[in-house]
Amino acid sequence: MRDGLRVAAPCKINLHLGVYDRRSDGYHPIESIFQLLEFGDVLWIDSLKTSSGIELCVEGPISLNSSVPPEQNIAYKAVRLFQSASGDDSGWYICLEKRVPLGAGLGGGSSDAAAVLLALNRLKGYPLSGQQLENLAAKLGSDVPFFIKCGIAETTDYSTANADQSYAGTEYASKAYTGTAYITGRGEQIELIDVLAPWCVVLVNPALHSSTPEAFAMLDRFRQKSGAYPKPLIGKDRLVRTLESHPASWTFYNDFLEVFMEIGRPEMQQSYSAILRDLKDHGADFVNLSGSGSTCYGVFSAVESAKTAYKTLLKRWPLVELTFPLARRGNAVVQ
Ligand code: C5P
Repeated sequence: MRDGLRVAAPCKINLHLGVYDRRSDGYHPIESIFQLLEFGDVLWIDSLKTSSGIELCVEGPISLNSSVPPEQNIAYKAVRLFQSASGDDSGWYICLEKRVPLGAGLGGGSSDAAAVLLALNRLKGYPLSGQQLENLAAKLGSDVPFFIKCGIAETTDYSTANADQSYAGTEYASKAYTGTAYITGRGEQIELIDVLAPWCVVLVNPALHSSTPEAFAMLDRFRQKSGAYPKPLIGKDRLVRTLESHPASWTFYNDFLEVFMEIGRPEMQQSYSAILRDLKDHGADFVNLSGSGSTCYGVFSAVESAKTAYKTLLKRWPLVELTFPLARRGNAVVQ
């Protein structure tokens, strides 16, 4: 009999992303609003009864580069890290149903890693505290602690009734989630925000891989050359007040977008400006780039416009998804 877990690994978008000057450790401080979305990967995790190894299989519409060994997959690294921190020596089978593209600014790999850490901790009877999991997560990547924090958020405000029905029966559906956060540091300082999110999101990815380290390096080069300074910090209170207003009046931005539009690859410049225009033309109240690219998105307060935009853009772009802020579906969309 199987005693494993099927867990969701939801993706995120950055509603706002300010990037500041590179620190001496090579990382850039950021100020961001992260929003968890329903769209994501799904993982099956089970113990191997007869071996102590790690078996990783990848299925789903997004295929990974087959020349990259499984040990380099972040989900595999998460298993190893959990084992060394908890003393676990079991063998594990992980099947990754990959839907979120790589190098897309949606935190797909980071969410997979967090899902693995959370699931293993549960399957082994919670040997690690939430803080220990967050510390491990930070070793795997700057975005990973956010997904841990959302996964262990002990909020009672959002019942399972609000969880995404498409994940019914998964571990995730039984979790109470808070999916919005004010993020600082290099990404590991997380303050969950309790706001309503009465809107939906159309994600559009042009099938261009965007490397995070390269995007940060490009931003440094751009600022050095142009003499541009980082914009001042906005602060949590002001960002939350903006978040509470109608998306049509949001003043959020993503510092990477300006850099790509000035000195990015021509195919990125063309794709980003065409997608953002398409989304606006189809009624998006707010448009932006997520993370360091390559996914652009539109925020729609009217679900009918979002559906029309989704159907039209699906014919023009390689990957288009209509999705919702996580755990807010009950009040997510103004019809
Ligand atoms: O933390 P993560 O492994 O995702 O970061 C990948 C790379 O992106 C880092 O090595 C660094 O070059 C860059 N980065 C950064 N500032 C951040 C996050 C990432 O410069 N806040």
